[in-house]
Amino acid sequence: MKNKVIAIDGPAGAGKSTVAQLVAAGLEYIYIDTGAMYRAVAWKALRENDTVFLTDDFIIKTVKNMDVRLQYADKTTKVYVDGEDVSDHLRTPEVSKVVSQVAKLAPVREKMVFLQRKMAENGAVVMDGRDIGSNVLPNADVKIFLTASVEERAKRRFEQMMKKGYEVDLLKLKEDIENRDKADMERTISPLIKTSDAILLDTTSMSVRQVTDVILSLASK
Ligand code: DC
Repeated sequence: MKNKVIAIDGPAGAGKSTVAQLVAAGLEYIYIDTGAMYRAVAWKALRENDTVFLTDDFIIKTVKNMDVRLQYADKTTKVYVDGEDVSDHLRTPEVSKVVSQVAKLAPVREKMVFLQRKMAENGAVVMDGRDIGSNVLPNADVKIFLTASVEERAKRRFEQMMKKGYEVDLLKLKEDIENRDKADMERTISPLIKTSDAILLDTTSMSVRQVTDVILSLASK
């Protein structure tokens, strides 16, 4: 199959990264997790910050002075910040809490979008995020908008976090997801939206395999 570009957008916990990785493996494409890039900026800002609140100015200063790299090999994405592998530190509740603040800032988005477009320039990529079909890769061959009920999304994240050994409260997780969705949909720059040419997949009652197969079949057309 020609080197296509597949864009998968949707709210938190819709299963984008699980499905995107399976689609990428099925097509022998690379997978680009753009959420991990915003998380990497949040992680570095948190690590360097020594005040109670993170200010926008501090985040902007942080992003200007950092090197972010994604490496996709053996079906896993590794994220490097200034050469350090931070992949295991990006899904913590602390990072999740501040990542929307980070992702709404223009200088952060400009740098990340530039890197994302560069990684996709030769095609054969599956990229997931919030603004991939609408802004990063508007000419993508296949655009998917993946969603599920907020209860189902919270449940999936809960199970994922438990497996990783994090103690989490399901109701609190649901609340965090709702707050993050609201922030991502209401921000001024590149908010989360479904473009008119994206295919809506509500995965509430679908298995990962079913969702993957639908996308693989769309990609083969
Ligand atoms: O997909 P995720 O939960 O890892 O994303 C983390 C945050 O990054 C999410 O709250 C929104 C933001 N994000 C974004 O604004 N644009 C993207 N392309 C990907 C993620």
